[in-house]
Amino acid sequence: MNKDELKKRAAEKAVEYIESGMVVGLGTGSTTKFAIEKIGDLINRGKLKNITAIPTSIASEKLARELNIPLTDFFRETKIDITIDGADEVDRNLNLIKGGGGALLREKIVAQATEREIIIVDETKISVQLGEKWAVPIEVIKFAAGLESEYLKSIGGKPVLREVNGKPFVTDEGNYILDTNFGILKNPELLAEMLNERAGIVEHGLFIGLAAKVIVAKPDGIVELE
Ligand code: A5P
Repeated sequence: MNKDELKKRAAEKAVEYIESGMVVGLGTGSTTKFAIEKIGDLINRGKLKNITAIPTSIASEKLARELNIPLTDFFRETKIDITIDGADEVDRNLNLIKGGGGALLREKIVAQATEREIIIVDETKISVQLGEKWAVPIEVIKFAAGLESEYLKSIGGKPVLREVNGKPFVTDEGNYILDTNFGILKNPELLAEMLNERAGIVEHGLFIGLAAKVIVAKPDGIVELE
């Protein structure tokens, strides 16, 4: 079974938790794409009714519009029943590293407004401790990028400005990302607090205590972690 099949399995399992009438958060990335497609399919076949959705990126919004998924926003809704999103790394406490696709800021805003955040991954994303596989994406305002890079070095990180085709990657909110390797994170909560305190850092990809459930697709079946 290839990776896309695993991602699709996890995504379709997560969609089973969505009920008619819910406000749904739509995550971002190649795994969540399968969930958005499934939601669109169920709405268009009349199996899910009165769904409204809030996407976490311009890309997910575009896909949702193509599939005729009714969209809403935080002027009309301030509570989301279920969000389905992906992750880059998941530890044994269900803490996450997210932001590989650059959508971490909206993803975290949506996650904090969500009653049940369901994360969907294939088994390669599971670690004992965060930092085994991924650097921490840190979104900074352009003005501060040089300064924040020095700050991140001063607290033990190795920041690299994310680039696409030789140019800095710009997020949906117009910021830069410093992918910062801190090695294995012995205390992700403390690091998250330090990053939260720092002016110039808009948001970071450490999602602490936000996931209610992680659905892991393995070749021999699905595992649900709570
Ligand atoms: C987007 O910024 C990310 O947080 C994604 O949710 C994460 O990178 C997982 O993406 P994939 O499902 O494409 O691996």
